[in-house]
Amino acid sequence: MTELNKIALKIISKGKGILAADESNGTMSKRLGAVGVSSTPENRLKFREILFSSDIMNECIGGVILFDETINQFTSSGKTIPELISSSGAVPGIKVDTGAKDLANSTKEKVTEGLDGLRERLKKYYQLGARFTKWRGVFSIGNEKPSELAIHSNSHALARYSALVQECGMVPIVEPEVLMDGDHSADECYNKTSEVIKKCFEQLIFNKIDLSGVILKPNMILAGSLSKNKISSEEISHKTIQCLKNSVPTEVPGIAFLSGGQSEIEATENLNLINKNNNTKFIMTYSFGRALQQSALKKWSKNIKDIEETQRIFNHRAKMCTSAAQGKWSSELENK
Ligand code: 13P
Repeated sequence: MTELNKIALKIISKGKGILAADESNGTMSKRLGAVGVSSTPENRLKFREILFSSDIMNECIGGVILFDETINQFTSSGKTIPELISSSGAVPGIKVDTGAKDLANSTKEKVTEGLDGLRERLKKYYQLGARFTKWRGVFSIGNEKPSELAIHSNSHALARYSALVQECGMVPIVEPEVLMDGDHSADECYNKTSEVIKKCFEQLIFNKIDLSGVILKPNMILAGSLSKNKISSEEISHKTIQCLKNSVPTEVPGIAFLSGGQSEIEATENLNLINKNNNTKFIMTYSFGRALQQSALKKWSKNIKDIEETQRIFNHRAKMCTSAAQGKWSSELENK
């Protein structure tokens, strides 16, 4: 077992999942603004420190993805944020892309940037305690999209990013997100997601990536948010498993899904069925942002001094997600 494979397994084994708390300051400002809290570095830290010091971290959270601002901040008791995360047994991670920018010679498609100077930034993050990283490529469906150009450009960048991250002794999370925005069918999502993931692995293999030290972070296979032909959770689970079985090399230890705008319960229910029906050898867990934090953030915004109640809600959500990552979730558990 390689060191990278060990780190990957530590993050995703035994029902543990990933807390994606790497919202950029822009995204975090939107999330905080929506609940009426001003987006200052202090407030962003306050909310995140509440989550990272929750009891449930030990039991459920194997890794936390941070944003550059947070990895450099200190807790109220003077610890660094990576120290706080490691003290609960979770692995600190860091988002290292610099965002999705307009892709030249395409219509309204994006390419994720951040390769310039990445090797140096990675060394700094490793010293700060990070042992895994994230890079997100984003694709939309509709009007001939995603184009071959967008798929090629983003998978090329994901592979070059992964090579630099492994060179620095960290595990790359490879996140090709096919967005649920639009009125496309689940079958279109299946076809496009399969094409994107296959292309990513083609590029990863070409760049000599150790696949046993990679975590894939894909979307689930869903009908578009505006589609009139939604499919059941059972169908979502079968299509998602089939897509991954056909496009992910077996050396990859695990898959950690993004929630992508699904509600907390939808994302949990779908993950649960994916695990119940999982006939692959991949570990299938969560790397949720909104589906882990939404209710806790809403509660916190009502009284930012009420740490206990915010943690109670986060603890519950994390527990539900971990049950789902083991195929043991049920809607009754939500009300206990
Ligand atoms: P969501 O679960 O809110 O989609 O966020 C996950 C993530 O990290 C997106 O890059």
